[in-house]
Amino acid sequence: MISCILKTKHNIFFAFLLSFIVSFGAFAQGASEQAEVATRGVEPGATEGASEAGAAADPAVLDAGEALFKNNCAACHSAGSDVVVGPGLQGVTERHDEAWLLRWIKNSQSLVQSGDAEAVAVYNEYNKQAMPSFAFSDDEVKSILAFIESGQGVAQAPAAGPEGAVAGENVGQDAVGAVGGYLDIILVVLIIVLIVLVVTLLLISSVLKNYLNKNRQLDAYDAEIVNQRFDLSKIYKSKAVRTLVVLIFVVVLLDLSLDKVMGVGIQQGYQPRQPIAFSHKIHAGDNQINCNYCHTTVYKSRSASIPSANICMNCHSQIKTESPEIQKIYRAVERNRPIEWVRIHNLPDLAYFNHSQHTQVGGIECQTCHGPIQEMDVVYQYSPLTMGWCINCHRETPLNTEGNAYYDNLVKLHEASSKGAFTVASNGGTECSKCHY
Ligand code: HEC
Ligand code: HEC
Ligand code: HEC
Ligand code: HEC
Ligand code: HEC
Ligand code: HEC
Repeated sequence: MISCILKTKHNIFFAFLLSFIVSFGAFAQGASEQAEVATRGVEPGATEGASEAGAAADPAVLDAGEALFKNNCAACHSAGSDVVVGPGLQGVTERHDEAWLLRWIKNSQSLVQSGDAEAVAVYNEYNKQAMPSFAFSDDEVKSILAFIESGQGVAQAPAAGPEGAVAGENVGQDAVGAVGGYLDIILVVLIIVLIVLVVTLLLISSVLKNYLNKNRQLDAYDAEIVNQRFDLSKIYKSKAVRTLVVLIFVVVLLDLSLDKVMGVGIQQGYQPRQPIAFSHKIHAGDNQINCNYCHTTVYKSRSASIPSANICMNCHSQIKTESPEIQKIYRAVERNRPIEWVRIHNLPDLAYFNHSQHTQVGGIECQTCHGPIQEMDVVYQYSPLTMGWCINCHRETPLNTEGNAYYDNLVKLHEASSKGAFTVASNGGTECSKCHY
């Protein structure tokens, strides 16, 4: 009996330890899961998730579907889960089979009148509002469904900021986020269960103690053990506990410093305050000023160039002349001093990057690398700008070789030796010397 109680005390102690270790493990996992979400969110064009979702469909079909959806359906349906007039269409291909959807979209009323149970149920649920009929071909309807299924319509929600851009990018990533969410819930439940367990054990222990003291003849030795106070100093002194504490400490330290080391020089999301409250949303978004009106060299040279105050003055000698922010431009011009914009994107000197190669020759949109600049009041660094990021895109992006005789022989050679697309990488775009001097 006595030894049993002793064990109980040990058990309490081990329960504590166990709970700590288990919750620590779960926590660490949750954290790394979240870190993964953060890194995945900003791969160029969020390639992974998007290509997974749309893998089955050809981009031309998706584009056609998107156009049809926007022109014919978007007034009443979102591609996500929000109800507009009709239900959100996300997951609709799982709710109904294709044959049913073809009939419904072409003429929902005839389907309702035929007494089809699914159709009547949907019709009644949305207050018997008749959805219009559409004279589409099967392929046209299928392209709309493919577009809905791809999740691209959901990803187009405007991004609010660095976090927004990460979170809104694609559906595949939301799934990863959801896993992170589940882990958190499991963690909380686990902790509650452990607390209940510890309290129960303490109760049992005290009941047993009372019982033994009252109902048993105990000799002095047993009595001492039964009535022994829970002695914290014993825990400190225990070798096992000390090693464990040291071990956990070391693991945490290693984990933190590893994260720091891996993150050196990576400034994704970096969003400094600028000396003038210049907004790309007002200029490039609302007023549709071309990027290269201000970043004049972006299609011609290596650097994109930051506009001088004179370019601002082209307009602001007339516009908003009273605004204190605009007066800062005048002061800079008067003193003949450049405005001291804080640089956001900054590759280390060891790497060579050329804008014109990507914008003019490669035909890549600014937004692929810089994100939705035209929606940013304050610019932030959208992409990680790591070597892995550059190389991934070079592996995945086919070169635009059409009508360029320079490439004809290279493409022929490539097709003879490999089946894959002729990507930047196939043309040597992953050779060290292309990016490093
Ligand atoms: C004028 C508004 C309107 C337009 C335009 C419209 N719908 Fe609908 N749709 C509805 C309503 C309302 C419902 C709910 C059922 C009902 O009341 O008929 C619905 C239901 C649906 C459903 C069944 C959804 C479910 O969850 O069961 C599908 C699929 C659908 N619409 C597809 C489309 C497609 C594709 C287009 C474009 C080609 C389109 N709709 C255009 C109003 C509209
Ligand atoms: C009216 C002039 C103007 C237009 C138009 C404009 N920009 Fe800018 N851009 C600036 C100024 C000024 C800065 C520096 C201040 C800042 O970072 O907000 C800047 C900064 C940037 C930066 C960050 C540079 C750094 O420090 O690393 C990027 C990226 C950028 N612009 C991209 C774009 C893109 C893409 C467009 C078109 C969609 C665009 N800009 C249109 C004036 C402009
Ligand atoms: C092609 C014309 C054009 C150029 C070039 C231009 N702006 Fe603007 N800017 C505008 C317009 C239009 C507005 C919006 C005015 C309004 O809200 O009525 C604006 C608004 C602003 C505002 C907000 C003012 C306020 O108080 O609301 C600031 C700040 C600003 N610009 C700074 C700059 C800077 C800095 C540059 C140079 C890098 C620049 N602009 C270049 C057209 C321009
Ligand atoms: C392939 C990716 C990519 C594309 C496409 C791209 N940029 Fe950049 N941008 C970068 C990188 C990387 C840097 C950092 C360059 C450095 O530090 O040397 C950068 C830096 C900048 C800067 C800061 C000034 C500079 O040159 O370092 C501006 C402004 C800018 N980009 C604007 C634009 C505009 C405008 C477009 C579209 C016309 C565009 N970028 C397209 C990757 C890209
Ligand atoms: C969004 C995709 C994308 C990203 C991100 C990207 N590139 Fe590229 N890059 C391209 C494409 C496409 C080309 C080929 C352009 C052409 O010649 O047609 C290219 C070409 C190049 C070339 C010339 C290669 C050759 O064979 O001549 C260099 C150098 C280069 N990129 C460097 C970089 C660096 C450095 C980064 C990262 C800071 C980067 N790129 C990020 C798409 C990308
Ligand atoms: C497409 C362009 C590109 C190619 C190809 C490329 N790199 Fe890099 N590399 C970069 C960029 C950009 C950086 C700086 C960003 C960073 O630190 O992640 C970098 C950084 C580095 C660094 C410094 C790492 C650090 O953490 O500071 C080394 C070392 C390096 N590269 C070696 C190589 C070798 C070896 C190869 C050939 C196998 C290679 N790179 C090919 C773009 C490239």
